[in-house]
Amino acid sequence: MEFKDVLAREHATRKFTDQRVSEKTVRKVIEEAQRTPSLLNSQPWRIYVAEGEVAKAIRKEHEEKTLANEEPHEEFDSLLKVEWDTFPSKNMATMSETLDYFLRGETDDFDQAQLKLFNAPVIVFLTIPKQSPAWSIFDLGGFSQTLMLAANNRGLSTMPAHAFVKYPEVIRKYLNIPEDETIGIGIGLGYPNKKATINDYKSKRVPLDEILKIKKNL
Ligand SMILES: Cc1cc2nc3c(=O)[nH]c(=O)nc-3n(C[C@H](O)[C@H](O)[C@H](O)COP(=O)(O)O)c2cc1C
Repeated sequence: MEFKDVLAREHATRKFTDQRVSEKTVRKVIEEAQRTPSLLNSQPWRIYVAEGEVAKAIRKEHEEKTLANEEPHEEFDSLLKVEWDTFPSKNMATMSETLDYFLRGETDDFDQAQLKLFNAPVIVFLTIPKQSPAWSIFDLGGFSQTLMLAANNRGLSTMPAHAFVKYPEVIRKYLNIPEDETIGIGIGLGYPNKKATINDYKSKRVPLDEILKIKKNL
């Protein structure tokens, strides 16, 4: 696929079909993501993939805990406690407003998507060692992005989500993740449910000149 087409494909898919993804494709995507650069080639990431019955069990326990109002306790900073600067805060508010507008008040679609973990048939969990500098979080972000581009290039759709890692003990229970690793993020892979309105929402970006400054004259 041409790079511009891969890039155009990439967006959050909040409802997947039940169609399974072949293990061969998953392995290829992860192998391609391994091309990601990292500080001194430290490659701090580890990848744990839940699919089939395991993905289903994780989705079910996530739903039960959410419905029981269990407070999320993700292993990176808790989103409930993060203090954001004005610029990202403004962008998040814009996203929330445009999404509400797009859904015409049917925010239930968005909430249901979180509750059901997007019905993702494959969930890729990414970890780094507990003892990691901020550089490794940077590297993990790079790995995630290469993974998503590789997946889109192979005709899959992707969903990076904090929602996947709200209840780490569930993930640890099914995937035997060592205690000395921090679960950073989960990425759903699969095929989009074309009937789901939520999948038609396309986010915008701030104008280029709001984030870019190029200086050449002294
Ligand atoms: C680290 C990270 C965590 C995210 N967590 C969630 C989430 O829990 N639920 C959700 O619906 N979207 C989540 N998203 C998706 C973002 O909302 C989405 O990427 C952003 O709004 C831009 O939209 P686009 O990816 O469709 O272009 C997450 C994205 C990232 C990168």
